[in-house]
Amino acid sequence: MASRTSRDVLVRGLRVLGRAVREQPRIFAVAVVGSVLFGGMVIASAYVVGGVVGEVVVPSIARGQVGVGTLALAAAALFGISVLRVVGIFGRRLGAGYMQYRLQAAYRRRVTRRYLDLPVAWHQRNSTGTLLSNANSDVEAAWQPIATLPFAVGTLVMLVGAIVSLFATDWALAMVGLAVFPALFALNVVYSRRMAPRQARAQRLRGEVSGIAHESFDGALVVKTMGREAQETARFASRAGELRDSLIAVGRLRGVFDPLLEALPSLGTLAVLVVGAFRLRQGAISVAELVSVAFLFTVLAFPVRAIGWVLAELPRSVAGWDRVRRVLDATGEMPYGQRVLDPAASGPATLTFTDVHFSYPPAEAHQPGAQVLGEVGFTVPAGRTVALVGPTGAGKSTIASLAVRLVDPDSGTVELDGVDVRELTAASLTGTAALVAQVPFVFDDTVRANIALDRPGVGDEDVWAALRLAEADGFVAALPDGLDTMVGERGTSLSGGQRQRLTLARALAGRPRLLVLDDATSAVDPRVEAAILAGLRSSAGEPGVPAASILVVAYRRATIALADEVIYVEHGRVVARGTHTELLATVPGYADLVTAYEQAEVDRTQERPYDDEVAPLPSGLELEVDR
Ligand SMILES: Nc1ncnc2c1ncn2[C@@H]1O[C@H](COP(=O)(O)OP(=O)(O)OP(=O)(O)O)[C@@H](O)[C@H]1O
Ligand SMILES: [Mg+2]
Repeated sequence: MASRTSRDVLVRGLRVLGRAVREQPRIFAVAVVGSVLFGGMVIASAYVVGGVVGEVVVPSIARGQVGVGTLALAAAALFGISVLRVVGIFGRRLGAGYMQYRLQAAYRRRVTRRYLDLPVAWHQRNSTGTLLSNANSDVEAAWQPIATLPFAVGTLVMLVGAIVSLFATDWALAMVGLAVFPALFALNVVYSRRMAPRQARAQRLRGEVSGIAHESFDGALVVKTMGREAQETARFASRAGELRDSLIAVGRLRGVFDPLLEALPSLGTLAVLVVGAFRLRQGAISVAELVSVAFLFTVLAFPVRAIGWVLAELPRSVAGWDRVRRVLDATGEMPYGQRVLDPAASGPATLTFTDVHFSYPPAEAHQPGAQVLGEVGFTVPAGRTVALVGPTGAGKSTIASLAVRLVDPDSGTVELDGVDVRELTAASLTGTAALVAQVPFVFDDTVRANIALDRPGVGDEDVWAALRLAEADGFVAALPDGLDTMVGERGTSLSGGQRQRLTLARALAGRPRLLVLDDATSAVDPRVEAAILAGLRSSAGEPGVPAASILVVAYRRATIALADEVIYVEHGRVVARGTHTELLATVPGYADLVTAYEQAEVDRTQERPYDDEVAPLPSGLELEVDR
């Protein structure tokens, strides 16, 4: 079983190499030509050295004088060979380096590009640490053997050349070559097979260790405030320890095989000398030939190792490649359609949900996903504001994700202006509908860049207009560098409410025709929240103000009261709909929820006023307090 899988690794590894050659054939050719030139010169040098010994040194010793002319000729030949060797090494190294780093760069780009194409559901199943190691260490591992591949290919050619020249010299010496070289090759193959499982395990652990590290840094705030440093360190240490052990296992195997691989050619040289001395006495070969062959074995010892290096790297390469390919081949991406909503219709869009069912993919592939939404149907008519209200976990965020097509329904349809969102092009979709998510995300960049996002036609005026609508112009104007202020990683230099309003301004700056607010102003003072919504509704269509229909997930009475209609969801189903007043009167659950929330709000405001009225807390800390 084990040997079967390792043979498998060899075959698959060679396939990965084949792919590399197909992707960079010209550079590979340059490197191989360099390597073959080098190999040819190694063999040539062995024969020149043999010739010098046989034709110059031995006769000189016999006669007691040195033939200057022959010596000069030999020196010139050796010099020429050395120059060609240098050229060969240069070509090989340069080619191999280019090929390896080009492939790495290309695949890093492909992997990260793919991350952006893959749906939210895929990202939820894959940790950030894994994603980081896929784009980094896995890509590197996959193309690591490329560094020595041209050398190894050149060496193979060289070995064939060596065997041929051995046969041309003497069959007995050729037999020694035939025994040693294949043995070297076989030893290398065994080595690589033994290495396979160890390397695969090490590569997997590398990913896990980087995943844990990422999580602890990312959650540094929680780790610190909860006093979990020791446990977190222990969790990291235990996995890092496993990685260490698995790397030591790799090293131990190296320790056994490397000396063997080193020793075999030396044994070959010894055998050549013994057999050669015999043949010399028989008069079958000359001194020059014997020296040439002995020298050949000595100089071949090093290049032959290149084959071993490639074979030893193959398992890790296959492990890395498998992990890279898992990303590149991941399915579930959501292909966009071809349709474009009429750009002239810049008025508010209509959003329609019809009998939408949705379940999140299960954690384990064989389990069925639990249904989160069932028979959800409602409409946000053009220019209207609809509030989505429901207890926690009811499915409000899921509905918001469906509305902007972060996920697709299992059945039923989501339509914008009567067109299924699955039929729209990416540009038409993002140009029409904008989501402001429950958890705001801010890039480590300036305020301006965070809002404009390099979108064409979004200038400073539009940025300010969006900030005004989001009631964020005041605090941005007060920032030391205004729009040019850097907000820190994930906006750590901003308060929770400020961050939320920046992300709202970002959505508004794109002039969406449908605005989906998922609890997007929860950290903002309730009056300000209501003012934002009221501002959006009253001045819709005025210069700088998008004319948008609004779907808003809300809790606060003041906000809900502004909506034209309220949709009340419980357990993934629409339970009731109507105006706020109607629902208060007729739906007990609704009245309870809104009242309970209002009470909590009063308590909360008494404990700590919203950040509009107080100076922001030291960076980072408000995260915990706000949520
Ligand atoms: N990525 C996910 N994978 C699996 N289940 C999920 C995922 N996201 C949400 N759920 C589940 O789907 C249900 C609805 O979640 P959703 O986030 O839509 O609720 P919500 O109404 O927005 O709640 P809240 O008011 O707390 O924001 C919950 O039961 C939740 O556990
Ligand atoms: Mg939610």
